[in-house]
Formats: sequence, structure tokens, C-alpha cells
Amino acid sequence: MKNVYVTRRARFNAAHKLWNDDWSHAKNLEVFGKCANPNWHGHNYELHVTIKGQPASETGYCMDLKDLRDLIKVHVEDPLDHRNLNMDVPWMKGVLTSTENLIIAIWEQLEAPIAETGCHLHHLRLYETENNYADYYGGE
Ligand code: NI
Repeated sequence: MKNVYVTRRARFNAAHKLWNDDWSHAKNLEVFGKCANPNWHGHNYELHVTIKGQPASETGYCMDLKDLRDLIKVHVEDPLDHRNLNMDVPWMKGVLTSTENLIIAIWEQLEAPIAETGCHLHHLRLYETENNYADYYGGE
């Protein structure tokens, strides 16, 4: 088995705020600081999607990256780009919109469609800022 890991980068811009409805206004500001700004703030997110597969003899590809690009567009960019993560995204409803929770939710959107192509989603990396990012490999 000669597995190769292939990565496609995607970018989207979105607004959010970190806010726990179970807490007081004061506690939200204390814990989340500027991230709890009531009138939202935005990020230029960058997502790295890594699939795992073996190069097919006919193409040399693990997966046609045009197909991966299209899956990311439909399942991630279209629902998230220029949206408010707290209000506009059904699959983020009721979830704190941290990078950690967002990357898990994105995994759940992409895993099955990628599996349908015969490839495996291996790893996601989601940058919220240049300096802050999260990694997720699925599972626990
Ligand atoms: Ni933020």
C-alpha cells in the first residue's frame, strides 16, 4: 500500500462571536474578551483538506483535485463564506463557534462526500488567523 496524502487549500471569510448564553454578559466578556464583541467580528479563514489514497494506475491521481475542490466548495465554502457562523449556518446552530468546534463540524460535512469518491479524509487544518490554527484527524 503506497498511500499518498494530498492537500487542497480553501479560504473563506466569516463573522462570528464567542458567547455562552448560559453566562452573564460580564462573564462572557471576561472569558472571551474581544471575541465576545456584541456586534460580531470577522476572520479570513484558511482550510487545508488532506485526503489519503493510492495513485490510480490510469491517472496517477489519488483523487482528481478538481473533484475535491468542488466538494469543498459545495460543503464548506458555499455554506460559510460571507456568513455569520452563529446565525447563518444550520450545522453550527447551538455550537460555540470556536475554531475547534468549527473544524469538527467541517469534518462532519466533508467526510461522507469524500468517502463516496473512494478516498479518505485524513486531516483538516483550519487557520482562524495567521498565528492560530487547529488540526483534526476525525474520531475521538
Ligand atoms: Ni474570532
